[in-house]
Amino acid sequence: MGKLDGKVVLITGAASGIGRASAIRMAAEGAAVMCADIDISGARKTAATIAEDGSSAAAALQLDVANESDVQAALQTTVDELGGLDVIFNNAGIGGAGNGWDETIAINLSGVYHGLFHGAPFLAARGGGAIINTASIAGLVGLTGNPPAEQADLQPGAGAYVAAKHGVAGLTKQYAVTFGMHGVRVNAIAPGYIETPMTVLVREDEDVRRYIESLHPMGRLGQPEEIAAAAVFLASDDASFITGVVLPVDGGYTAR
Ligand SMILES: NC(=O)c1ccc[n+]([C@@H]2O[C@H](COP(=O)([O-])OP(=O)(O)OC[C@H]3O[C@@H](n4cnc5c(N)ncnc54)[C@H](O)[C@@H]3O)[C@@H](O)[C@H]2O)c1
Repeated sequence: MGKLDGKVVLITGAASGIGRASAIRMAAEGAAVMCADIDISGARKTAATIAEDGSSAAAALQLDVANESDVQAALQTTVDELGGLDVIFNNAGIGGAGNGWDETIAINLSGVYHGLFHGAPFLAARGGGAIINTASIAGLVGLTGNPPAEQADLQPGAGAYVAAKHGVAGLTKQYAVTFGMHGVRVNAIAPGYIETPMTVLVREDEDVRRYIESLHPMGRLGQPEEIAAAAVFLASDDASFITGVVLPVDGGYTAR
């Protein structure tokens, strides 16, 4: 028996990294999964990987989370194509380095807000559900950044990224409070550095990689499957009394 048997999940950013790993893991736990992404061919590949296994239903749709009407439409499309909606994983995002303020806020903060603003009442009207947002260690603390020589690369994106992710943490708490009486749990995951395409630049230079690893007391980066495992827990009935939490999954990064 899977931990998510009978549930329907909508995941944004499902074409790659944490979203893809979560889609595959949630399907393995019995959920039907709508794989949503701006990269529709990547989202279709994730859905096809799930379908190959044959145990769960999966579909794909294209959306830009910065576009409010895209996010709103994705909710009903999921119900129409997969027969329900119980869990929304607002996970899509872009990295800190090299992206400007407006784009980072539009995708990493407004994108999550759109999922909450439309998703929470949608789930409440259907009798309840769970929402998970992908925050970051950058939603809990400022980023130390790369070693001094690389510091310039991290500007100005780090400020926008940290602001957006702190905003996600705040939205998570506010929506948990507002929707607690309506059967909708709202939590966030705060990953440390995870080995996904987003962190390729950090990982390709051995010195930078070792430095970033050293920021995590466990001495390594995380794997997307380790975030997926936390997402499954927060989505499942095992987390039935957990709401408003920003859960670090960070090898101890924020513990010191
Ligand atoms: N990788 C890390 O170290 C790390 C750490 C903390 C938090 N995060 C967060 O985890 C989430 C997933 O990141 P990842 O590491 O899997 O990165 P990734 O680049 O592998 O995947 C991100 C996905 O989001 C999609 N996306 C980007 N903009 C979009 C938009 N406007 N609309 C819809 N989809 C869009 C991309 O196409 C991609 O498939 C992000 O919110 C990121 O900020 C990542």
